[in-house]
Amino acid sequence: MCGIVGYVGNKQAAPVLMGGLRKLEYRGYDSAGVCIQNGRLTTVRSEGKIAALDLKLAKHHLQGTSGIAHTRWATHGVPEERNAHPHRDCSGSVAVVHNGIIENFLELREELTGKGHIFHSDTDSEVLAHLIEHEMEAGLPALQAIRASLACVRGTYGLVVIFKDLPQTLFTARMGSPLVIGIGDGEHYIASDPSAIIEHTRDVMFLDDGEIACVSSEGITLCALDREDVPHRIQHLDWEVETASRGEHAHFMLKEIMEQPQVIENSIRGRVDLIGGRAVLGGLDDVRDRLKEIDRIVIVGCGSAYYAGLVGEYLIEELAGISVEVELASEFRYRKPIITERTAVLAVSQSGETADTLEAIVEAKRKRALTLGLVNTVGSSIARATDAGVYNHAGPEIGVASTKAFVSQMTVLSLIAVYLGQLRGFLPESKAREVLAGLHEMPELVEKVLANRGQVTRVAEKYRGMENCLFLGRKYQAPIAYEGALKLKEVSYIHAEGYSSGEMKHGPIALIDKSFPSIVLCPQDSVYEKTCSNISELRARKGPIIAVTTCGSMSHVQADDVIIVPHTMEALQPILTVIPLQLIAYEAAVARGLDPDKPRNLAKSVTVE
Ligand code: F6R
Repeated sequence: MCGIVGYVGNKQAAPVLMGGLRKLEYRGYDSAGVCIQNGRLTTVRSEGKIAALDLKLAKHHLQGTSGIAHTRWATHGVPEERNAHPHRDCSGSVAVVHNGIIENFLELREELTGKGHIFHSDTDSEVLAHLIEHEMEAGLPALQAIRASLACVRGTYGLVVIFKDLPQTLFTARMGSPLVIGIGDGEHYIASDPSAIIEHTRDVMFLDDGEIACVSSEGITLCALDREDVPHRIQHLDWEVETASRGEHAHFMLKEIMEQPQVIENSIRGRVDLIGGRAVLGGLDDVRDRLKEIDRIVIVGCGSAYYAGLVGEYLIEELAGISVEVELASEFRYRKPIITERTAVLAVSQSGETADTLEAIVEAKRKRALTLGLVNTVGSSIARATDAGVYNHAGPEIGVASTKAFVSQMTVLSLIAVYLGQLRGFLPESKAREVLAGLHEMPELVEKVLANRGQVTRVAEKYRGMENCLFLGRKYQAPIAYEGALKLKEVSYIHAEGYSSGEMKHGPIALIDKSFPSIVLCPQDSVYEKTCSNISELRARKGPIIAVTTCGSMSHVQADDVIIVPHTMEALQPILTVIPLQLIAYEAAVARGLDPDKPRNLAKSVTVE
């Protein structure tokens, strides 16, 4: 949530910072701002999306080769210019951009106000600029002033600080909110997310919690809140630059839907051994012995990642014979979960930064569970906090609504299920081979669904005026119904509910009349006939039916509209049925004149609890 960029080097900073902000806009778009060091600190800020800041900057011609920038998702204070970052101290000698939440900001603000500081915003972040100013007035040099200030705050931060009197120098610090430093030739970048800087460099260093870096054009000095001389850990990211741009597509959401065949290919590359009939997951090999001993898996995640976890529950129970529970990460630690050393807690997260999911892992570690991550973002907090794990390799997901990451999560969960089933001697070889072969042909099947996009567009066009929609599915398709409803509501603002088809008669059917359509997932699987009965029940109440099925002969007597996807084994079918639902949501948003990449009130990477 919120995006940060910093630059110090030999180029003009403003265009670099703005380029980075455009890549990060998916993290928040309530307001944006830049601050350039040029003998003084010049700040330009604006309410709304980055395009509004662009317009304002055109009048300023900011010159200077170091600076910081921010795009905001509002937590404390309404989305107005005065609450936009960067925030400055009273004398204009310090400016900060901040992600996270300073929980004790009210008491700090009161204290500082008592000492004569004047605040200009309602944000928690501004307190950081004043604290640093206060410590410097007491005689501390910049780094020590930042350290002393951070010692006073409770909460989370990804912070970049720039000083009027320290040319070509930025300071950055992390506690619970990600930051990465990009290493160039005589220049350095700072960002909350590598996608902002990979067009400039792929050599990066992720900060750990409690670390502070002094970044100048010449080099990086790393220390921690409580110690000096922290060693450097530079890594090379092998992301393609194109994956972070939308290319020929009108929106990232569409681009990310359309690239799903390649995403699945990348997620299974080197992991499907068709000759040996094995799932190869090197990331789990180090914990093989513990995985043999576990008696239960708890999958934690939020939103779409949670729904992918529900598919994982079916997969792992069926293919590995291990009892699985799926928990909303935001609820997990408020219960008294029964977690033992024989429990594996698997966090599913695209960003690897979702605060609730990360906290669930911290809680699981405290209870000595084996912690695992299924994470897309390399080097992210969850990836680093867990004992072992598997990366999605889906590439950066920029659209706020998760699409390709969700599909890749289900893909990798099916591999994890095969891996565990084989490790524990539960899964018959023939079944393992069937799943692996199914995964191997999946990119081609997904291509077929996408090639048939016209059938989805027609349905979306026909129902463009709908105000409500019910999504139904049973067994493996139930989580897809939940996901379809989430996708539709978040990008098109159409009210949608996802239900297990079996639950429909226990309440939701009361909603149904001729103006309330249902999208029913009914591939020809083990519950096909039951789902068809549910369709009949809806039709008897005059509810319009859109069926997503594998059955070419599904007659229009059963459904008003039919979307056909290729058939695969039941356990892998969700990968195919979700794609039309992603497209329906996308088309509905576009038809209503909305930007599906930036739905209102949302942000990618929810780093507050
Ligand atoms: C929905 C969506 C969100 C995320 C959720 C978890 O389209 O994108 O529901 O799935 O915020 O995010 P990650 O996977 O980054 O932990």
